[in-house]
Amino acid sequence: MTDYELFNLNELNGWIIGSEFEKNTPFYSSLFQLGRTNYLYPWKDPKFHYHTESIEIYLVLQGELWVIVDEIAVILKEKSILLVQPGIFHSVIGGKGLIQHFGMKIPSMEDKKIIKEEKDDYENKIEKITKSGFNQSPYKQLDRNHGFIADLKEESNINCWLIGLWEVKYKTEKFCFAYINFDTLEEKNAHIHQDHFHYHSESTEWYFTFKNSQELLVNDTIVKVPEGYLLKIPKGIPHKQISMSFPFEGATIRTPIQDDKIILS
Ligand SMILES: [Fe+2]
Ligand SMILES: [Fe+2]
Repeated sequence: MTDYELFNLNELNGWIIGSEFEKNTPFYSSLFQLGRTNYLYPWKDPKFHYHTESIEIYLVLQGELWVIVDEIAVILKEKSILLVQPGIFHSVIGGKGLIQHFGMKIPSMEDKKIIKEEKDDYENKIEKITKSGFNQSPYKQLDRNHGFIADLKEESNINCWLIGLWEVKYKTEKFCFAYINFDTLEEKNAHIHQDHFHYHSESTEWYFTFKNSQELLVNDTIVKVPEGYLLKIPKGIPHKQISMSFPFEGATIRTPIQDDKIILS
């Protein structure tokens, strides 16, 4: 088993990490599917769809995404995250500005159900839902059976496990998610106690760097994760975050988390 994989996401658009069913993606994972728009103009999905098994997350870093979740139209502003539960219809219907966002499906599998409807029916449905207005206060939480929206500019949503198990705002047994944003070293030191060298019995951990860079010790190698890169650390591989350059922005995802044990080494 390799110790780690480092992906350069810069310049890539579309589905980057796909399931075994999506042959066109350059990388494969059974755990995690990753796509992105890298400063693209707003678009409109051709149909509503839902996922039978996967949770989908939209992480908007720049621009604005307009999304319909079941019967609710929401505006996803810059630095916000939307989680859509399996079985819930959703569709991107537009946006504003140049959009930089990440789309993730966890777990990664061939479970997308496109709902066959005539173009007119789709347009009528969108009109009906948006007639009552976009939810201008999208951070008002969605019904938990449908999903979850969080404003990542809000202090309490950053630099912590926002989604996952234990003391989090949104509980799921499928994955953990943290959005990291530290302007200075002092800010980081005030938030995080010393990270221990550890490994996971079940989880693969993914470290994103959106701005500047971070370094991790993986086994006995120092791995630098520059801006726009993604580091994958498989289960059983000891690791520890050792430094970052500021202002830093990134995210960490761990999956699957059920039965995972964190073992200090
Ligand atoms: Fe989807
Ligand atoms: Fe870890």
